[in-house]
Amino acid sequence: MGRFVKVAKTSEIPEGRSKVFTLEEKRVLVVNFQGSFYAVEDRCSHLGYSLYLGNVEGKVITCGFHYAKFDITTGEVLAPPAEKPLKTFQVAVKNSDIWVEL
Ligand code: FES
Repeated sequence: MGRFVKVAKTSEIPEGRSKVFTLEEKRVLVVNFQGSFYAVEDRCSHLGYSLYLGNVEGKVITCGFHYAKFDITTGEVLAPPAEKPLKTFQVAVKNSDIWVEL
């Protein structure tokens, strides 16, 4: 098991919103989908652009550059041109703090 890093209070990321953090030189996007938190690498698996600059709707994130779509809960590709899934991170919530496993 990796190391968990505290990133934010749950209140800082309301439902349907996301926030990006730099954790040990990795950009990690944390999304609140229906009250649960999910974390993916903030790097589109197509050409590496920031997904934070894209759009989150429900559990689908759309890259703002060539519109690949991913499932935020699994990293799975839902629409091209991306072919590879996003890297995902485990998230834990404890006492209103969000922790991400690196
Ligand atoms: S960089 Fe995201 S779809 Fe091309």
